[in-house]
Amino acid sequence: VENVAIITGGAGGMGLAAAKLVGSSNQLVICDLNQEKLDKAKAQLTSLGIRCETFVCDIANSESVSALFKHSNELGPIKSVIHTAGISPQMANPKTIMRVNGIGTINITNESLKYASEGFALVNVASMAAYLFPTLLAPTRAYKRAFDNTDAFLKKATFPSYFMPTQLYRSGLAYAISKHFVIWYSKKCASVFGEKGARIVSVSPGSFDTEMGRLEEKSGSAEMLKNAALKRFGNPNEIAEILAFCASEKASYLTGVDILCDGGVVAAKV
Ligand SMILES: NC(=O)c1ccc[n+]([C@@H]2O[C@H](COP(=O)([O-])OP(=O)(O)OC[C@H]3O[C@@H](n4cnc5c(N)ncnc54)[C@H](O)[C@@H]3O)[C@@H](O)[C@H]2O)c1
Repeated sequence: VENVAIITGGAGGMGLAAAKLVGSSNQLVICDLNQEKLDKAKAQLTSLGIRCETFVCDIANSESVSALFKHSNELGPIKSVIHTAGISPQMANPKTIMRVNGIGTINITNESLKYASEGFALVNVASMAAYLFPTLLAPTRAYKRAFDNTDAFLKKATFPSYFMPTQLYRSGLAYAISKHFVIWYSKKCASVFGEKGARIVSVSPGSFDTEMGRLEEKSGSAEMLKNAALKRFGNPNEIAEILAFCASEKASYLTGVDILCDGGVVAAKV
C-alpha cells in the first residue's frame, strides 16, 4: 500500500502547488470547500500524470475533518498532512477568520495526532503576519483554551480585534492573531507528536502570488515588498518546495519550529 498524503486547501494556490510535488510519491487526497474547485484542481493534476482523490471538507467543522481522515486512512497509512486551507482579512469578519484559521488548525491537528505513527509529519501554514503585529496584543491565555474549550478559545482569541478602529483592521488583527496561534499551537503540540515518532512544524509565508495573495495586495503587502530584500511576490512553487520538504522524511529531525519564507520582509524591519 502507498502512503497517503493529505493536502487541505488543495484546490487553492499553495495547496495545489504542493500537490504537484507530493503527488508523485504518495497516494494524494486533496480537500477543499467545494467539489467544483476540486474537480478543476484534479484535472490539472491528472494532466501532469498525478493521481489524486478529492474530498469536500470544511476544516472549521470537526465532524467534516474526522470524515476526511477516516476516508483517507481507508486508502492507506496517512504519512503526511499539509494544511494550507485558510482565509485572509479581506474575506471575512474576525470571528470567521478565527474559526477557520484557529479552530480549523485545532481540528486538523487533533485528527492528525489520532492517525500519526512513526515518520508522520503535519505541516501547518501560518503567515508572516504573525511576525508583524505587536505581540503584546497576542492573547496567549486564550490560546491555552484550545486544549480544553474551543468555544472559549474562539471568544477570547477574537476579543482583542474588536478594539480596532475599522472593519479591515479588526479582520487584520484577527488574522495575525489566528496565525500567531498556529505557530504557538504547533510548537506546543510537538512533544505529543514526538511521543509517536511524529513531527509537527509550521511554515509562515510572506506575499505569494495566489488568489489570496493578490487579494491582500492592496491592504499593505505591496507596500511592504518595496522594503523587502526580494522586492517581488513569491511564486507558489517556492513555498510548495518548503511545504513538501517539511512533510518528507528528509526533514526527519525538524519539529516544533516555524519556518518563515517571506523574501526578507520581516528582516527589513530589524
Ligand atoms: N498568499 C499569500 O500571500 C499568503 C501569505 C501568508 C499566508 N498565507 C496562508 O497560506 C495558506 C494558503 O493560502 P493561498 O494563498 O494558497 O490561498 P488560496 O485562497 O489560493 O487557497 C486557500 C484554499 O483554502 C480553501 N479553504 C478556505 N476555507 C476553507 C475551509 N473552511 N475548509 C476547507 N478549505 C478551505 C479555499 O477554498 C482555497 O482553495 C492560507 O492558510 C493563508 O492564510 C498566504
